[in-house]
Amino acid sequence: MARRIAIGNNKGGAKKSTHTVRLAEALAKAGKVVGVAEMDPQGNASRRLGYKDDPSKLTVSEAIAANAEGVAAQVWHPIGWQTEYADRITLLPARHTLEDRALEAGQRGAYRRFAKALHGADDHLDYLLIDCQPSFGHLTQMALAAAHYAVASTECEHDCIGGAVKYRDFVADAGIDLANPDLEFLGIIVGEYDQRVPDQRDQVAGVREIFGDAVWGVIPQRAVIAYADGQALPLDQVPRSGPSRAAFELLAERLMKEVPA
Ligand SMILES: Nc1ncnc2c1ncn2[C@@H]1O[C@H](COP(=O)(O)OP(=O)(O)OP(=O)(O)O)[C@@H](O)[C@H]1O
Ligand SMILES: [Mg+2]
Repeated sequence: MARRIAIGNNKGGAKKSTHTVRLAEALAKAGKVVGVAEMDPQGNASRRLGYKDDPSKLTVSEAIAANAEGVAAQVWHPIGWQTEYADRITLLPARHTLEDRALEAGQRGAYRRFAKALHGADDHLDYLLIDCQPSFGHLTQMALAAAHYAVASTECEHDCIGGAVKYRDFVADAGIDLANPDLEFLGIIVGEYDQRVPDQRDQVAGVREIFGDAVWGVIPQRAVIAYADGQALPLDQVPRSGPSRAAFELLAERLMKEVPA
């Protein structure tokens, strides 16, 4: 079974999808076989990985709706990047129809349907990174019921850091509530840091005070990162992205150290 990591925050724009996609890229470059599961109806991570949405393709939504053990095995898609390590990244994509699964929250066993779909379907992977939507609602709860670990993502802004703290605390209770008692909060990734802004320096200091050693890394604000996301490109194919790539490679090293695959 892959080591499953749910990346979350209930605040929008916390860089969850960027950190999911770029961690997947750095892990694949390090030789790991990585899955990305998108549990956000926005479909941002899927698009950024070069996946072309098409209503005829199966997504994570159909896998959950099937309510059957291991059905996600039929839903893996290759990503669309043209790069040597792209074949080490595989995708359970999402589109807006994933919203319909949230409406089924009251059905018997609904919170376990994603875990059920994944059962035996991610054994070929080293890691499965789960990109969560900006809420702690049903889709995120399904992700946490399936995950082994949770990592928070934040930008350098007060309310977003507050969202990361809430995610940490939510995860602490979710393990019991979602019949996944071994679920563990591992750390936090701080994104889009502009060291020239005094408030951002203060916010990062605050994150370090709250999370201590669990701060996995601080990713600087770089136009190349937004560009790579916007153009659905691997960072390797974006000029002048060396320092950004290095920052994500360090994060991947931390993940591989914390969670050996
Ligand atoms: N280090 C960075 N420097 C510059 N731009 C960045 C950086 N990290 C992320 N971004 C950009 O910030 C925007 C928001 O990031 P992203 O969509 O990943 O957040 P999110 O938490 O997934 O949002 P949502 O809550 O909507 O799912 C994107 O345009 C992304 O490309
Ligand atoms: Mg997102």
